[in-house]
Amino acid sequence: MTTIDDRSAVRLPDRLLIGGEWRSGSAGTVADLNPATEELLVDVQAASAGDVDQAVQAARAQLDGAWGATPGAERGRILNRVADLIERDAEHLARLEALDVGKPVGQPSMLDVPNAIATFRHFAGWADKITGSTIPTAGYFGRPTHSYTVREPVGVIGAIIPWNTPLMISGWKLAPALAAGNTVVVKPAEDAPLSTLHLAALLQEAGLPDGVVNVVPGRGDVAGAALVAHPDVDKISFTGSPEVGRTIQVTAAETFKRVTLELGGKSPQIVLADADIEAAVNGTAMGLFFNQGEVCAAGTRVLVHRSVYGQVVEGLAGAARAQVLGDPFDGATTMGALVNAKQRDRVLSYIEAGRAEGATVAAGGGRPDGKGFFVEPTIFADANNAMRIAQEEIFGPVGTVIPFDDPAEAVRLANDTRYGLAATIWTRDVAAAHTLAGQVRAGAVWINGWAAIDPALPWGGMKSSGIGRELGWSGILANTEEKTVTVVL
Ligand code: NAI
Ligand code: MG
Repeated sequence: MTTIDDRSAVRLPDRLLIGGEWRSGSAGTVADLNPATEELLVDVQAASAGDVDQAVQAARAQLDGAWGATPGAERGRILNRVADLIERDAEHLARLEALDVGKPVGQPSMLDVPNAIATFRHFAGWADKITGSTIPTAGYFGRPTHSYTVREPVGVIGAIIPWNTPLMISGWKLAPALAAGNTVVVKPAEDAPLSTLHLAALLQEAGLPDGVVNVVPGRGDVAGAALVAHPDVDKISFTGSPEVGRTIQVTAAETFKRVTLELGGKSPQIVLADADIEAAVNGTAMGLFFNQGEVCAAGTRVLVHRSVYGQVVEGLAGAARAQVLGDPFDGATTMGALVNAKQRDRVLSYIEAGRAEGATVAAGGGRPDGKGFFVEPTIFADANNAMRIAQEEIFGPVGTVIPFDDPAEAVRLANDTRYGLAATIWTRDVAAAHTLAGQVRAGAVWINGWAAIDPALPWGGMKSSGIGRELGWSGILANTEEKTVTVVL
């Protein structure tokens, strides 16, 4: 453990959790930086394939042991206690998240932490309500039958977490898995493992038996890959890049693991001519700049009716210029740093690509001087949907604004992408809103508000944005196997 600065005066978690023990890893350490200062926060212990194997064995033992026999009501009580403990440590968790990811501390206080609390409470409620059904059948060689289904845990689940909203995504993967009676091995991201490790300590404090949740920080291509290849892991739930998602699905096929993949997007925000333009500009800007744009559902393709195009571009450029970049712990800061130098360089290279393709920089377009992985919030106008800045996920504060002439063209542009995670529609016309919602190929459609997420709502993407759904009853389905039982009477 290491102590850090006066701002939080906390000890940073830096070890693996296997079978209830906080241990060193056998694969050295991974440096975890503060993205806003580029300084080392802590060298986090890194798991080897051997460590991952021990974590999987601990998880398997609990599945076949006490946890496997724990009633849903008791699992629910534990999940509710976890929610209480996250609530108790809300400020600490928000600080850890800000420190580790580089985001302004007000954002995890407002979103990530309350969402984690709500997610654990939501799934605490499901834990004793995971039912099957009775199904009338035609009988068996003239004899009557009684048939019913039950839902059983999938087994040992490997949860691979990204660095952008790690606390929230850890909750999205852990809460439904535990509610349904699974055991879990969590692989946090190299760049932001701290809030997940703290959450693991809270799970312990809440009375979760040792070994039900194990955490193996470390490298993706070492610890993550070992988890994916492990023959005794039944399912991988992954949120991250399409490239890694593809390798996970290929590797998982070897052992017929189930996979849930959430792979980001290039989500459209459609502004129709009749929209409340002020609300649309504010909401669209949030969809571009929240969390430095490092959001899988970021609304990075802003499709605007030509009659209001100039007004929206101007509004978004103003919103970009109004962002205050700086210290995540300064109350005036509205945008923090990108997570690491690689991500900053990736975003800057897309900004160059946008320029080279002939789009106009309406705001931003560079990086501020000084320390920290900051990039200026950037708006591209005069863009078209074929440009790389309209087709590829940038994962930074960059918006591409594209005009359209009628709603049919808006739908065509919205769907002209390999992704399909989310879409936002800004309009006052109820019929247009629902018509477009039906026509856009996306896992989530939000009308007049970006990212209206809730743990009760299924979450996941169409097309290259992923496979499967998390959260809500769909999250329970994704974490259970259905079994049919038939009695010949
Ligand atoms: P990544 O996909 O490499 O990392 C996500 C997680 O996967 C991390 O925990 C990482 O350690 C793990 N991982 C990496 N290689 C692995 C492997 N071979 N086997 C198993 N696990 C592995 O994403 P990265 O490189 O950090 O970011 C690159 C881009 O990915 C971003 O610019 C963004 O476009 C996208 N991304 C999307 C996210 C989303 O929310 N859908 C989240 C993070 C990144
Ligand atoms: Mg970090």
